[in-house]
Amino acid sequence: MRFSEKTCIVTGGGSGIGRATCLRMASEGGRVVVADLNADAAKATAAEITTAGGQAISVAVDVGNAAQVQAAIAAAVAAYGAIHVIVNDAAMMTYTPIVDIAEADFFRVITTNLGSVFFFAKYGAPHMPPGSAFVNISSVHAHETTKNVVPYAASKGAIEAFTRGFSMEMEERGIRVNCVAPGAVDTPMLWNNPNVRSGIEKVEGAIGKPEDLAAAICFIASDEARFINGTTLVVDGGRLNIL
Ligand SMILES: NC(=O)c1ccc[n+]([C@@H]2O[C@H](COP(=O)([O-])OP(=O)(O)OC[C@H]3O[C@@H](n4cnc5c(N)ncnc54)[C@H](O)[C@@H]3O)[C@@H](O)[C@H]2O)c1
Repeated sequence: MRFSEKTCIVTGGGSGIGRATCLRMASEGGRVVVADLNADAAKATAAEITTAGGQAISVAVDVGNAAQVQAAIAAAVAAYGAIHVIVNDAAMMTYTPIVDIAEADFFRVITTNLGSVFFFAKYGAPHMPPGSAFVNISSVHAHETTKNVVPYAASKGAIEAFTRGFSMEMEERGIRVNCVAPGAVDTPMLWNNPNVRSGIEKVEGAIGKPEDLAAAICFIASDEARFINGTTLVVDGGRLNIL
């Protein structure tokens, strides 16, 4: 029971990788805070956990909104006290070339994907005791990408750089900060991507399950990974170059 007596906030917990991570953490004793823009989806994940005898609450939050992130953290602290794990999983993509994309849309991706990591770092860390861990979800797009998803790829690359630097700042507090970079994973985000549908982004033969990512995320978040800090674990079935 790697997460017993631990409070774990998982953003994007209403679907896909985030949902699988919530279920796995709860099954290992975690008190899970399911945070998602989609309030109904967050509630459904939390209900699945509590029905199975686990501990969970849901919070509706736009992770790109600092005030809402602060409110979500306050709700977690009010429910369970200290926070031990924050998984920054929620993210979005756009599919428009850079010369055509509206400025607002570019910055919406950056704020949702990268700003959220900053907000949860800034406002979450003060509530986290030594031994706690951040797990930021980047992507193979931080390393190899395709056209028309530049804001997403840029945000994911920046998350990995943020993680390296922030891990140094957290070292003296005994808090670890790492990334997990998924490859293609069988979730709505994958199948909603027009580049995947058109074949510009090739995924065949290397599609993981959300549970495969949850296993890696839970390992990195747990004390078993106490000597792993400031790094990125690529979890892509060995096919980074398939893009
Ligand atoms: N699925 C893949 O192939 C793949 C590949 C590489 C990286 N990833 C990364 O994995 C993570 C999870 O992706 P997934 O495939 O499970 O996606 P998903 O679409 O199944 O779930 C994403 C969840 O995030 C929530 N969300 C979106 N915007 C939000 C916001 N502003 N505030 C709060 N919640 C918000 C959605 O409501 C949804 O529940 C993302 O960071 C994604 O970039 C996924």
